[in-house]
Amino acid sequence: MKRLLFVLLTGLLAVLFVITMWRDTAREWTSYQGRFLKTLHTDERRNVSGGIKQIIVKDLNRVDRCTTCHLAIDKPQLALGEEPFTAHPGKFLEWHPVEKFGCTVCHGGQGLATEVKAAHGDVKHWEDPLRRGNVVQASCRQCHGDLKAIEAHVPALIKGREVFLAKGCYGCHTIKDFGQTVSQDLTEIGSKSYQLMEADFEMMSPPHDRIRWLETKLRHPRMLNPGVRPEHLPPGEEEIFPSAMPHFGLNQDDIESVTTYLLSLTASNLPASYVMPAPPEPTVTYASDLEHGTAVFEKYGCAACHGIGGVGGRHNWNGGLGEETPPLLYVKAYYGNHVEELKTLIRSGRQPVPRMNAGRPNPGLYMPAWKDRISEPDLDALVVYLFSLADRLPQPQTPQAATDQAQTSPSQPTAPVDSSPIN
Ligand code: HEC
Ligand code: HEC
Ligand code: HEC
Ligand code: HEC
Ligand code: HEC
Repeated sequence: MKRLLFVLLTGLLAVLFVITMWRDTAREWTSYQGRFLKTLHTDERRNVSGGIKQIIVKDLNRVDRCTTCHLAIDKPQLALGEEPFTAHPGKFLEWHPVEKFGCTVCHGGQGLATEVKAAHGDVKHWEDPLRRGNVVQASCRQCHGDLKAIEAHVPALIKGREVFLAKGCYGCHTIKDFGQTVSQDLTEIGSKSYQLMEADFEMMSPPHDRIRWLETKLRHPRMLNPGVRPEHLPPGEEEIFPSAMPHFGLNQDDIESVTTYLLSLTASNLPASYVMPAPPEPTVTYASDLEHGTAVFEKYGCAACHGIGGVGGRHNWNGGLGEETPPLLYVKAYYGNHVEELKTLIRSGRQPVPRMNAGRPNPGLYMPAWKDRISEPDLDALVVYLFSLADRLPQPQTPQAATDQAQTSPSQPTAPVDSSPIN
């Protein structure tokens, strides 16, 4: 008798356990479905079934249950004004039919999950956070190699790439086989493992995901890499300088765009039926050597360390020249009669640069070697551009001209045109 009671009670407990578990996980999506179904007329309800919905996309190796809650995403006639019951904006689901694409290939998130936080990737173990709003554009490049063909739909992505080029990020970073190796390779930064960011996450406010991490990095490069002062180290250990990455003063819009662009940098090998390759790079012709040289300066990211327009001023910890990288406005004065020397300097770089204080470590920034990566005609055009920078130095002027100039807005070095985006 006792034994039977024991078995019965254990059985009951097990059943209760299963029911609680089920109710716990089912509560969220069932309540969304309940709320949605209530808004439908009887005849509409006939076309909408309940239960967990899943889109199985074998070719993409994905199972997405997003439509369990996003019930009207492809049914505008039933859509409501609030999430998760809106219809999809634009024609994206017409161009990318739900059964062939699912949702997560564009939005990230966790396809199989049926709770809001987990589905949106807002849980610790999931490394693909939901992409909302403009950030969704990071996904398009997996398949659309030719951004020009969809440019109307990817403004943030295109802007992000333009900012990347204009600020000279290539001068320190490589993407695929282009750029310098002063710092990390960004070829797959869009899928960088969370394990490598754990220490950084501890210094950031949540959410602790890749999108927020990139934004933080761009907003305050030194926040996550503040360095270690010698007084905080055991005697004899070398101090560590804060990040050598410049503070660019990007605005929120630029930060979002560059983040979107960086997120788009992932390794991806989707089936050929989904992918449209990039067209070959068009050959660019320039109206003048100066225009050509301006494009070369931008393309190779010289602005990385010498500032946009070569005005200098990037901070270089313990660098000999007042801890700043040099401006290029005096290149003509120094090398005007020594063009070959200048070309040799650009080809072979200068590393390490002199230190301000011999007792402290080498500066993080140095003049990298470009070897034959810059072709001879490009190098010649670059020299023309560098020499032209002398014109930006204050010219000897009459007092009257000086007041005239003070009244007009300060002349900004003009940002060069985006001539041949690489990646
Ligand atoms: C359990 C229900 C549920 C599931 C499953 C779910 N969502 Fe959501 N979703 C919501 C709710 C509720 C909101 C509104 C609150 C919010 O933004 O978090 C929302 C908002 C969104 C938004 C943002 C809307 C906005 O205007 O900010 C996107 C995008 C989105 N979901 C995509 C997805 C994708 C992709 C999946 C599948 C991986 C998914 N959702 C799965 C319930 C769900
Ligand atoms: C081809 C890529 C693509 C696919 C596939 C896709 N979406 Fe979107 N989705 C977008 C884009 C792009 C936007 C932003 C549109 C805009 O702001 O004009 C968006 C917007 C949304 C929004 C509005 C909120 C926001 O973030 O702007 C929701 C909700 C949403 N998608 C859910 C889904 C769900 C659920 C699925 C799967 C059924 C899905 N999407 C499939 C690209 C996609
Ligand atoms: C998984 C691959 C994939 C992703 C991700 C993807 N697309 Fe597409 N897209 C396609 C395919 C395939 C087509 C159909 C091309 C065809 O045959 O016309 C298409 C069609 C389109 C079209 C219609 C083109 C036309 O000429 O009719 C537009 C616009 C578009 N996609 C924009 C986007 C945008 C914007 C994103 C990112 C939010 C995106 N796509 C993400 C694969 C993808
Ligand atoms: C990663 C940082 C970095 C990048 C990128 C970089 N430079 Fe430099 N460059 C330096 C530093 C630091 C010096 C100072 C070297 C020294 O003190 O001897 C320097 C020196 C120079 C000088 C000599 C200046 C002088 O007054 O003697 C020239 C010219 C120059 N760079 C041109 C370029 C050009 C052209 C590019 C792009 C192709 C470029 N640099 C990219 C860091 C950089
Ligand atoms: C003058 C050199 C320099 C320039 C220019 C530069 N960075 Fe950096 N960047 C660094 C250094 C050094 C680090 C490594 C230290 C750190 O993480 O702060 C770094 C780190 C990063 C990281 C983190 C990489 C990782 O895997 O941890 C990202 C992302 C990044 N940079 C993006 C950019 C972008 C985007 C630009 C252009 C807007 C840019 N960087 C321009 C020097 C530079």
